[in-house]
Amino acid sequence: MQTAGFILQPSRWIDANRRRYGDVVTFRSLFDPCFVMVFDPELTKQVFRASPGRLRAGEANAVLGPVVGSRSVLLLDGAEHLRERKLLLPPFHGERMRAYERVMTEAADRAIDAWPVGEPFALLPSMRSLTLDVILRAVFGVDEGPRLEELKRRIRAMIDPTSTRIGLIALALSGGRFGAGAGQRFEDRRAAVDELIYEEIARRRDAPDLAEREDVFSMLLLARDEDGEAMTDAELRDELVTLLVAGHETTATGLAWAFELLLRRPDVVSRAREGDRAYLDAVVKETLRLKPVIAGVGRVVREEPFQLGRYEIPVGIEINPSIAAIHRRRDRYPDPREFRPERFLGDDPPDTYTWIPFGGGTRRCLGAAFASLEMAVVIRRVLERADLAPADRRPEKGIRRGITHTPKRGVRVVLPALSR
Ligand code: HEM
Repeated sequence: MQTAGFILQPSRWIDANRRRYGDVVTFRSLFDPCFVMVFDPELTKQVFRASPGRLRAGEANAVLGPVVGSRSVLLLDGAEHLRERKLLLPPFHGERMRAYERVMTEAADRAIDAWPVGEPFALLPSMRSLTLDVILRAVFGVDEGPRLEELKRRIRAMIDPTSTRIGLIALALSGGRFGAGAGQRFEDRRAAVDELIYEEIARRRDAPDLAEREDVFSMLLLARDEDGEAMTDAELRDELVTLLVAGHETTATGLAWAFELLLRRPDVVSRAREGDRAYLDAVVKETLRLKPVIAGVGRVVREEPFQLGRYEIPVGIEINPSIAAIHRRRDRYPDPREFRPERFLGDDPPDTYTWIPFGGGTRRCLGAAFASLEMAVVIRRVLERADLAPADRRPEKGIRRGITHTPKRGVRVVLPALSR
């Protein structure tokens, strides 16, 4: 019954259990014999602030191993995780983000120019192509041309089959080698991506302008850890694929949801068009609150049992702060199902443990500033240039796809005419 609840009506099922059992609930399903969901911001703070050796996110993310590789920052724990994270952080620092704004605006323009006029189309595929474009240019630093197109094609071929829940489960259960046929196909696609990435690493190490380049890839090539060591080619490959997998589908889904919510609220659209940056940021925040792309994060208890409020959680159990359920708390967000960017503009905006679309603590999303900026820039550009309208009368429902919570029909819209 619990498995059915999670598959058929996850939010209603989770909320019903929260009402019945409180803010810490143990679940069992066919996919996981025991995990503990957390619905309270104060307890979530305890989880995010716990020592990373005792609550391990890398172990909880193991399902992504076959794609991102064993040296990925997503999969590591403890000192190894900290080393990778420190190497990756500088290029994602808030200040650096401004350099990417132009790349983001241009990618938005290319996407808008490709939209059909006068007939319904789904925004999500267009947003996927846009965010992949942005990652390949801003993170990989690959420009226009056949190399960019070929890399895009191979990446989509590798990611697509794993973007369904079944695909991910099959991958996880088989440690990446599910059944001879499908496993081999996946291996071949991964090898096809790796070939281009290793080629690019070799080419870039020799680039005369390496020190002046502003893309993340070039900065990672020059980064040194505390012992003065650079990243190896294999480490670089895993981190580049990690940034791609973590940053592409997630941001595209966030953007698709933003338009689903916005286009049904002409009052919010008019205000966003006035150009106030703080309001635009509030639109992004409220989108990620109401439609968090990732519903929850995981930490596995190690070393000794973990005291969580009144409960002692045994070693080996996964604790899941529920992003989606915390974002629906009536006491923190009055009328939680309403789309109200103003929530983030008052004197008392939601705190770091009440608004958690990017997780938290030493594992908080490395691309949070990047993704928030990209969403704001793309929304601004689309509102400037296009007068989109929803194609369907009824608001779109969400479904779980892989690890993301996605609009079921991909947000169908119509573009009557381009304004610019
Ligand atoms: C709207 C878009 C995005 C959402 C909703 C999102 C969400 C998340 C969440 C929930 C986590 C796990 C945090 C935790 O366990 O506490 C995470 C981790 C991560 N994200 Fe994002 N993300 C987004 C975009 C990006 C982008 C654009 C990048 C990079 C280009 C990125 C890179 C990462 C990395 C590297 C991690 C692992 C951090 C670590 O384990 O130390 N994400 N993200």
